[in-house]
Amino acid sequence: MKKITKAVIPAAGLGTRVLPATKSMPKEMLPIVDKPAIQYIVEEAVRSGITDILIITNRGKGLIEDHFDRVPELEAKLQGGGAAKEKILKEVVDISHLANFYFVRQKETRGLGHAVNRARSFVGNDPFAVLYGDDVIIGEDPACGQLIRAYEEYGKGVLGVKKVSPEAIHKYSSLKVEPLHDNLYNCTDMVEKPTPDKVLSLFSILGRCVLPPEIFDILDQTPPGVGGEIQLTDAMRTLARSQGMVAVEFTGKRYDMGNKLGILQAQVEVALNHPEVGKDFREYLKELSKTL
Ligand code: UTP
Repeated sequence: MKKITKAVIPAAGLGTRVLPATKSMPKEMLPIVDKPAIQYIVEEAVRSGITDILIITNRGKGLIEDHFDRVPELEAKLQGGGAAKEKILKEVVDISHLANFYFVRQKETRGLGHAVNRARSFVGNDPFAVLYGDDVIIGEDPACGQLIRAYEEYGKGVLGVKKVSPEAIHKYSSLKVEPLHDNLYNCTDMVEKPTPDKVLSLFSILGRCVLPPEIFDILDQTPPGVGGEIQLTDAMRTLARSQGMVAVEFTGKRYDMGNKLGILQAQVEVALNHPEVGKDFREYLKELSKTL
């Protein structure tokens, strides 16, 4: 079986739920303590064995390209500046060597399915991973790698899932699943943003999937769905109904960087474990919480 080495990160959404922060700043570049959200996602992909990453961008997302590039002026300034400066210099340079980066623009914001369909020529005939640009997952065992292992076991498209609350399921997708083993399930149907009568289960796709290249022909035939957008879920439903997909209830904490509360949760929890500021931040939070 062909090893999965390619990943696609769709990052061409408009981020309307995080305005005004995202008026000119891509939401994928919002920092969690000291790294932009998309760097956590790229690092997860790399730890999962991915070597080639296509980031789908659009107008105004040039900052993302810059972040994964070299910055000679900055590097020159940091050089020879003592151990602390050298350490940060290495960190800055290493970002550009994390993977082979490719960029393509989604010229119109027509939905996640439409964005992923821009990846056809990058992907060719290989299976590939998709990591949604606003879902940061922090954990020992990278979530993308957990999906890749399931792909290697079953040879089918794989969905990263978690259970969401009954009150929230209408904002997500809902999957029809039956157990395979451990945290793996067979998925035979799904629906995007279900109305209460259409909920199939509380399992929802959260930010990661592994897809076979056949998804592109399906996407070509997928009409606009919920919100008038070409939904990746609709294309994956066709795949799930025809050949089945595997759902992995992945380990790791997922942060939704697409909404304000999710961003705050990511900031606080990552800061508490941060080697440089974690200890002081914990003390600060303890003091602050006494006043709440
Ligand atoms: P979202 O629906 O969360 O992104 O899409 P959005 O459009 O930025 O959100 P709001 O509702 O306006 O705040 C999930 C992922 O799909 C990408 C987004 O960048 C995000 O990573 N996406 C979405 C695209 O790349 N293109 C699209 O047309 C839509």
